[in-house]
Amino acid sequence: MTRTAPSPRTLDVEHVAPNALGIDRAFVESWLMPGVDWGLTAEHPRLFAPSGHAQSIVLRQANRLLGHAALLEVRVRTTSGMVPTTLIGSVVIAPEHRGQGLGRRLLAEVCSTLDRSPSKIAILWSDKPGFYRRAGFEPSGSELVVRIATGQPNALVRRAHQRDVPSLLALHAAKPNRVLRTLAEFAALLAIPRTQTWVLDDVGIRAYACVGKGMDFGDVMHECGGDDASLLQLLPALPTHLAVLAPWRRALARRLGSVAEGPLGLVRTGKPLPDGFYIDGLDSI
Ligand SMILES: CC(C)(COP(=O)(O)OP(=O)(O)OC[C@H]1O[C@@H](n2cnc3c(N)ncnc32)[C@H](O)[C@@H]1OP(=O)(O)O)[C@@H](O)C(=O)NCCC(=O)NCCS
Repeated sequence: MTRTAPSPRTLDVEHVAPNALGIDRAFVESWLMPGVDWGLTAEHPRLFAPSGHAQSIVLRQANRLLGHAALLEVRVRTTSGMVPTTLIGSVVIAPEHRGQGLGRRLLAEVCSTLDRSPSKIAILWSDKPGFYRRAGFEPSGSELVVRIATGQPNALVRRAHQRDVPSLLALHAAKPNRVLRTLAEFAALLAIPRTQTWVLDDVGIRAYACVGKGMDFGDVMHECGGDDASLLQLLPALPTHLAVLAPWRRALARRLGSVAEGPLGLVRTGKPLPDGFYIDGLDSI
C-alpha cells in the first residue's frame, strides 16, 4: 500500500544515540532484518550497543518513525597516516513511504552532517549505488576477490576461542592499513551471528581468518590477519573457496588462486583515497 507523501514541512529530523532509539529500534529492525532471529545490536555491535559511539539520524512525522540512517566515526590507520572516517549503515525508509523522496531527504541530512564532521571520508556498502551517486558517493578504493584454488586440510587449523582475542588483536594491529579497534570491540565483532573465526595455531596463533558475518558475506572469507606464509597455510584449509583481501595482500592473493579486483565501497570524499586505505570485513556496517 502506498501512502500519500508526507509534506516536507511536517517532517522532523533528529539526531539521537542509536541505543536511545527506544521503540523505534523495533521498526528499524523489522524493516532491515525481516525474519532474522537476532537483532540490530547483535548484527552491528559498534552501532547499537549501549557503549557505542555512533549517531542515528531519524526522520519522523507526528512522532512516527519514517526513516533511519546510522553514522559511526572510526579512525583508519594507513601507510600515509591516520584518516578519520565515517561509516554509514542501516539506511532505511518505512516500506509504505518509499519512492516519495524521503530517502533523498534523509541522505541530504546525512551529507550535511558529514560536511560538519572532522572526517573527510565517508564510506558505505550498498547494492543500490544509483541511490547514493547523486549524493556524491562513488565506487572507490580497492579490494581483491580471490577464488582459492584447492581445499587443503591442516591439523594446525582450529576454530578461535574467546581467549584467543588478544592474539587476534595483536595480528590486527600489525596490519599496515586497518580500522583501530579496542579488545572489547574486537570481541563483540567476532560474536556477530554466523561469523566463524579460524586460527592457525602453531605453538601460538600465527594467523586468523573470519568467514561469514551476520546478514552479510555468506560463506566468504572477509578478514584475515597474519603474515603471508601463515595465511598460505590457513586460508586453503577454510570451508570456503572465496576470499576478500586488502590490496596490499596482492602477492598473497596471486599465490592463493585467481584474483579479481573491485571497489572497496561507495565513498564520498573530495580527493582520492589515501594510499592503502582499507576497511576489513568485520568493520563494515
Ligand atoms: C533505498 C531507500 C533508502 C531509498 O529511499 P526512498 O525514499 O525510496 O528514495 P527516494 O524516493 O527519496 O528516491 C531518491 C532517488 O533515488 C532513486 N532511487 C530510489 N531507490 C533506488 C534504488 N533502489 N536504486 C537506484 N535509485 C533509487 C529514486 O529514483 C530517486 O531519484 P530521483 O531523485 O531522480 O527521483 C529505500 O527504498 C529503502 O529503505 N530500501 C530498503 C532498505 C535499503 O535497501 N537500504 C539501503 C541499504 S544501505
